[in-house]
Amino acid sequence: MSVPFEEILERLPPASKVLDIGCGHGILCNAIALHDPQAKIWGIDIDQRKINIGQKSALANQVIIEHVDRIVLPDELDVIILSDVYHHLAPSESQKILGMIKQKLKKGSGIFFLKDMDTKPLWKFLYCYIFDVLTGFLHITEGTSLNYKSADEFKALLKDAGFSIKSLEYLRPNDTVPHILIQCIVE
Ligand SMILES: C[S@@+](CC[C@H](N)C(=O)[O-])C[C@H]1O[C@@H](n2cnc3c(N)ncnc32)[C@H](O)[C@@H]1O
Repeated sequence: MSVPFEEILERLPPASKVLDIGCGHGILCNAIALHDPQAKIWGIDIDQRKINIGQKSALANQVIIEHVDRIVLPDELDVIILSDVYHHLAPSESQKILGMIKQKLKKGSGIFFLKDMDTKPLWKFLYCYIFDVLTGFLHITEGTSLNYKSADEFKALLKDAGFSIKSLEYLRPNDTVPHILIQCIVE
């Protein structure tokens, strides 16, 4: 619901290989490419309509946008981003994606940014829930389920999946969405 552009761009190591999972139209991929002409970015999604637009607007030589089933990724990535995607994933899909992130992220120094939202306070959560139900019903956002987690549940599941959490921040507290940004590494 809101891409954390500043927070990610200012923490991006130079000349990073970046994967944006659930990249949508690829706006963050292009923002990273403009921010660092040495960066190389892969954006993947399941929504072919968004991929088509992303491919037309992808900055040549730096950004590749492709369907999750067709992407060819390098063996190791410096940064992996999952922004407002987790809560659209069925539990089996999220396990698969977290496993792939753990396998591809550079050990020790690679950064995994998980942007999602807390389930508190209740009025903000209900606002997000109604928004997600409507955008799902109208096929504005594709995803098989709505699978929300609280900030504490995110911390527990990431630890169980083998990630070390470096920080958990609440972004833009005056917004109607309880945004959280978690930064992790794999030791
Ligand atoms: C709410 S949008 C977020 C888009 C963008 N990352 C952002 O932060 O604005 C969720 C995106 O995740 C994609 N998505 C849903 N399930 C996915 C999956 N299993 N693999 C990759 N992308 C997925 C949707 O098609 C959609 O583009």
